[in-house]
Amino acid sequence: MTDQAHGAEPSIPGAIPGKPTSASRTTLSHIMTHNDTNLLGTVHGGVIMKLVDDAAGAVAGRHSGGPAVTASMDEMAFLEPVRVGDLVHVKAQVNWTGRTSMEVGVRVLAERWNESAPAQQVGSAYLVFAAVDSDGKPRVVPPVIPETERDKRRYQEAQIRRTHRLARRRAIKELRDQRAADGFED
Ligand SMILES: CC(C)(COP(=O)(O)OP(=O)(O)OC[C@H]1O[C@@H](n2cnc3c(N)ncnc32)[C@H](O)[C@@H]1OP(=O)(O)O)[C@@H](O)C(=O)NCCC(=O)NCCS
Repeated sequence: MTDQAHGAEPSIPGAIPGKPTSASRTTLSHIMTHNDTNLLGTVHGGVIMKLVDDAAGAVAGRHSGGPAVTASMDEMAFLEPVRVGDLVHVKAQVNWTGRTSMEVGVRVLAERWNESAPAQQVGSAYLVFAAVDSDGKPRVVPPVIPETERDKRRYQEAQIRRTHRLARRRAIKELRDQRAADGFED
């Protein structure tokens, strides 16, 4: 794959220079307390989703150099329960950039706060952020430059997810338009 396909386009006049993945990669850590539990006594999924959105938002803001809003969150997977007393690490990076949007990939790891056992992956998610200007309108983002082979694989996988998201949105819109044209109200 060429550099251009990875988002690096340094020679186009007027183009925003690319930024490497490592420039905005971020980890947010938090100890889970009794305030974070669901009725079963384990940590509420929504608490983890908030941390995921916070970490991804920080990454999107750093990469784009300004405000960015969550456009979508998908493939949020909860692999293992998180417990009170777990130290949770939310690791996020820009996987892919479009014109005004960025896909941020997030891995959630947990370890006991007072033990030295290795952290275990407990969740993952992909979020799309749109960079916005002061009027809330989408603005152009710097292309991300994947650095490692893992970054390059994530870039390619993000492109596949992007294609599927667009195809799904288009298919659903077409179905709704067709139903409206056929006289169905909902
Ligand atoms: C996200 C938002 C800025 C998009 O605005 P818009 O006028 O629809 O603009 P566009 O259609 O040009 O979309 C902008 C970019 O976001 C992407 N995008 C928009 N909606 C998306 C979605 N649901 N999923 C994935 N990507 C999306 C577009 O593909 C485009 O990316 P590109 O420029 O890289 O190709 C707008 O819908 C918004 O402000 N939503 C609310 C966001 C928010 O408040 N989030 C917090 C929730 S409380």
